[in-house]
Amino acid sequence: MEQTFIMIKPDGVQRGLVGEIIGRFEKKGFYLKGLKFMTVDRAFAEKHYADLSAKPFFNGLVDYIVSGPVVVMIWEGKGVVSTGRKLIGATNPLESAPGTIRGDYTIDIGRNVIHGSDSVDSGQKEKDLWFPEGINWWRPSQH
Ligand code: CMP
Repeated sequence: MEQTFIMIKPDGVQRGLVGEIIGRFEKKGFYLKGLKFMTVDRAFAEKHYADLSAKPFFNGLVDYIVSGPVVVMIWEGKGVVSTGRKLIGATNPLESAPGTIRGDYTIDIGRNVIHGSDSVDSGQKEKDLWFPEGINWWRPSQH
């Protein structure tokens, strides 16, 4: 089944949007398969955004991602990559439709609340980077 990687960025966590965002994905019908609350260092954030390293906003983007804890998740379901991005809305919040997460909660491209993988392939890569331990390691019988 298709999976995607979703990150609630430091502004989303600080603004108390974690429950709202998880609720939107749940109510749409997707399944939460992995969830962690963590803070990353610059080297890790640079790896996540390596494709953007030549962009003028790259250093500011890394500053932003390391500025506080993030909530990272793996969501699963039919079409979750593209439909997840529809729930999130356009990267520039001034262009994201009302009703989307960015459309409802932000106006600043540099503080756009949430990240979602842009393809199945990048979803897999981002899952491997953020969840190297995997998402199926826990067994109730061990407790
Ligand atoms: P995200 O979906 O995480 O993918 C890349 C991120 O780069 C994007 O969300 C924004 O946080 C950031 N970004 C893209 N364009 C700009 C820009 N012009 N200025 C600042 N940040 C940007």
